Amino acid sequence: MNLAGTDLLDQEGLSADAIDLILDTAASFADILRRPVKKVPTLRGKSVVTLFYENSTRTRTSFEAAGKYMSADVINISGSTSSATKGESLRDTFLTLQALTADLVVMRTPHSGACHQAAEWVDVPVVNAGDGMHEHPTQGLLDLLTLREAKGHLDGLTVAIVGDIAHSRVARSNLWGLTRMGATVRLVGPSTLLPPDADRLPVEVYTDLRAGLEGVDVVNVLRLQLERQSSARFPTAREYSRLFGVTPDTLKAAKPDVLVLHPGPMNRGLEISADVADAPHALIERQVTNGVAVRMAVLYLLLGAS
Ligand code: NCD
Repeated sequence: MNLAGTDLLDQEGLSADAIDLILDTAASFADILRRPVKKVPTLRGKSVVTLFYENSTRTRTSFEAAGKYMSADVINISGSTSSATKGESLRDTFLTLQALTADLVVMRTPHSGACHQAAEWVDVPVVNAGDGMHEHPTQGLLDLLTLREAKGHLDGLTVAIVGDIAHSRVARSNLWGLTRMGATVRLVGPSTLLPPDADRLPVEVYTDLRAGLEGVDVVNVLRLQLERQSSARFPTAREYSRLFGVTPDTLKAAKPDVLVLHPGPMNRGLEISADVADAPHALIERQVTNGVAVRMAVLYLLLGAS
């Protein structure tokens, strides 16, 4: 298996072998992150451009850290400072970045499918860092790495993805990656926040939180994506939190050793209570650290440094 020169656009199209390769490579890079000097020369002379048309704290920073820890030159462009504000098309932007000799482009965009489109225009690898409501493959991979590390395996796990599934690219990447690796996925949320194509996805669907959490190994809590909702999908935030907020009480339905994930940013007190977010079974900060390791692996493998 060789991923050199390929794009990373989604998890739906990733084979179990490709996922294993990325996770194994990431696990070896995680050791570098534990060293006092977090720097290796692996990607010296390579340039990575991050192009973000949406806000981000952890994803953009972790791509930048991943590139820098491996000695790549990382150039960050945000949508609000790019020539997109002067009317330049996405195609011209990508052709310009390629002409500027970028070796790989990472993009976050509010438009589902825009990364796939961009990948057709340029020869360099394109990495999707979240495209609208479609996918966020490196988030899906870091969640897999975090669970594999904590549980020792992925096959046979039952994972409940809870909340605003309809608007969540994290949910989509998770469900493809988890099912490909042999886990069972439940989507749990109010019917107004479930995806319209839920019956065609390889998942079980629950509209009752306690029923959805019954006996699960893992709960992955999602943020309410209020910025992607044109009309109210539930009566009030208080109502949502009462019915779908993950609290110590609702978690009692899950296995006693349940693990909790959240991709961040969290709305504490809305989709997740502070005592769940801060408990030892919550792996939220581990997810962030593993995000750096996964992005190191992706840059390394796609840039053909192996
Ligand atoms: C997610 C995203 O942007 O899709 N955040 C992230 O990348 N860690 C989830 C979210 O914004 O709720």
